[in-house]
Amino acid sequence: MCALVLDTPQPAITFPQPVQRYDAEDHAVWRHLFQRQARLVADRACPDFLRGLKLLGLNDSGIPDFERLSDRLEAATGWRLACVEGFLPDSDFFHLLAARRFPVTWWIRPWAKLDYLQEPDVFHDLFGHVPLLAQPVFADYMQAFGQGGLKAERLGALHRLARLYWYSVEFGLIQTPDGPRIHGAGILSSKGESVFCLDSPAPNRVGFDLRRIMRTRYRIDTFQKTYFVIRDFEQLFEATRPDFAPIYADLEGLPDLAASDLLPEDVVITRGSMDRVAGGWLDETPDT
Ligand code: PHE
Ligand code: CO
Repeated sequence: MCALVLDTPQPAITFPQPVQRYDAEDHAVWRHLFQRQARLVADRACPDFLRGLKLLGLNDSGIPDFERLSDRLEAATGWRLACVEGFLPDSDFFHLLAARRFPVTWWIRPWAKLDYLQEPDVFHDLFGHVPLLAQPVFADYMQAFGQGGLKAERLGALHRLARLYWYSVEFGLIQTPDGPRIHGAGILSSKGESVFCLDSPAPNRVGFDLRRIMRTRYRIDTFQKTYFVIRDFEQLFEATRPDFAPIYADLEGLPDLAASDLLPEDVVITRGSMDRVAGGWLDETPDT
């Protein structure tokens, strides 16, 4: 009975980075993307992200070595990278975060798909997410997120936490003395959205509100209609410190909000025109 089970090797969830599988084109794609995004976000990313880029020594010389990078990151905040093939089952993902291990996809997009990628690759995962893991408060937030994810799974509230992840870790903005700046990885690794999120009159920009975000649907196929802006990472950490179980229970009775909705109690920083023409929002694809 066991022979079949034992003879079938389970693919490992994390494995050593297969560096020998990168070819010259892969490294050239990294160089191109790095140069382009580093220039684009130099005055758009939050200062902590730019400090992280520098501290970790990320540069345009090619796809980074995960072990060397992990050594630097671990010295800063105790986080290490875990090399993965792509999207993970939720509980594997949360277990890694709870152990201060950030999963990074090893492969990079081909030239032909430079700007249109639905799945995360090494450029998104590494350039977008890893610099902020060198920031102590954000590093603690991500670990708490992992623990909270395991709890949300047990409580059947994963969709609430997915919305928080989306509107903070992936698409969050942060207030600075010079105006709003980007902290979300989904924006920082995107050529178009890193300009759109700050410069366009189309989307809403609203003060961070945990319950509000947990009720808000999102779109994965186009730029965001609403961005949530935190004051600082301490605000994010403190707002998410309480036990979410009663919050999940409270929200059960409340209707979901569309990605474009504004509420009377919202702290509106920018009311979006919502009339974006080229490149999106014309169809009526429902929010997730
Ligand atoms: N405090 C949350 C809970 O009790 C855990 C959490 C922290 C979730 C930070 C997300 C971010 O579930
Ligand atoms: Co991401």
